[in-house]
Amino acid sequence: MIVPANTWQATAAACLDVNAIPVLVDVEPDTYCLDPEKAAAAITPRTRAIIPVHLYNSLADMDRILELARQHKLFVIEDCAHNHGSQWRGRGVGAVGDIGCFSFQSSKSLNAGEGGFVMTNDDRLFERLYSLRNCGRMRPDADPSNWEPVQSGNYRISEWQAAILLAQFERFPAQLAKREANMTFLNEQLGQIEGLKPMLRRPQVTRQGLYQYAFRYDPEAFNEVPVEAFRRALGAELNTSVGGMYYPLNHSPLYQPHTKRRHHLSDEYWQAIDPKRFNTPIAERAFSTESVILSHPHLLADQDNLGDQLSRI
Ligand SMILES: Cc1ncc(COP(=O)(O)O)c(C=O)c1O
Repeated sequence: MIVPANTWQATAAACLDVNAIPVLVDVEPDTYCLDPEKAAAAITPRTRAIIPVHLYNSLADMDRILELARQHKLFVIEDCAHNHGSQWRGRGVGAVGDIGCFSFQSSKSLNAGEGGFVMTNDDRLFERLYSLRNCGRMRPDADPSNWEPVQSGNYRISEWQAAILLAQFERFPAQLAKREANMTFLNEQLGQIEGLKPMLRRPQVTRQGLYQYAFRYDPEAFNEVPVEAFRRALGAELNTSVGGMYYPLNHSPLYQPHTKRRHHLSDEYWQAIDPKRFNTPIAERAFSTESVILSHPHLLADQDNLGDQLSRI
C-alpha cells in the first residue's frame, strides 16, 4: 500500500495491521501531501491501494491519484483525519476515493474525545467495513450476497460519542467558513513576507477545512536562523505552541514496525516493512528546516486579532 512519508504513524500502522506493506512515498513540496508522480514510480504488480492523506491546509492531488488508481486497478483510501469538511471539485473528501477515514480524537476540529468513522459508497465494502468494526458480525439488513465472514474485533464508536459529535454539527459549518476565510487571509498576508510561503491551494479545492495550519519558512531569508528558533519565537509572541510537521515515517521514533515480533511474517516481509529503506528528501527537508504549524483554534480568531498576531512576525 502506498502511504505518504509525512503523516501520523497510524496511516502506516493500519497497513501493518492487515499484513500489508506500507510503501513510504515522498510528498509534494508545496502541499506536503503524497506526490502522485513518486507514487506512480512506486507502484508494482503487488500494489493494492493508495492512501492519500489530506494534511494540514492542503488536499492531495485527487485527480492524479484517481487516474493512477484507474490505470493500475488500485483502491483509494483517503485519510481525512485532518480535513473534516474539505471538498475536492465540490465533493466532500472521504467520498472522492473508495473509502474515507476520519478521526474524532480530542484535538481534532470535530471531536468525540476519541473515535472515528469510515465511509464508502460501495455496497460490498460497506458490509465488509460494518463487519470489521463489529466483531465480524453481519449487519442485520445486509444482502448476504454482499457479505463474507471475516476475523475482527470491536471498533465501535459509542452512542455517547456519536451524540457529542452530532451536537457539534450545528456549529461546524460556521466554524468551517470562519477558518477558511481566516486561512485565505493568512495565506495572503504571510505570502507578502519575504522568506515565508503559504501552502498551495489547487483550483480543484472548492472548500478547505483544517486541523492544523501550515506554512513554509526559508531560513536563508532570516539570516539562517533555524526554523526551531523561529517556531519558538513565534510561539512566545503568540503565547501558544507552534510546531513543525510530523517526523517523516522513515525516521519516526513512533513508527517502529520491527519492535513487534508478530510483524515477522517472513524474512522478505520483515525487510519490506523496514521504514529506513525509503528515501524521502522533500519530507525530510520540510521537517527539519521549513514547516511551521499552528493548531485550528487560532483560525477561529477575529481578523483584527489575526492581523495583530501577524504584525509580531
Ligand atoms: C493523518 C492522521 N491519520 C490518522 C490518525 C488516527 O486517528 P485516531 O487517533 O483517531 O486513531 C490521525 C490522528 O491524529 C492523523 O492525524
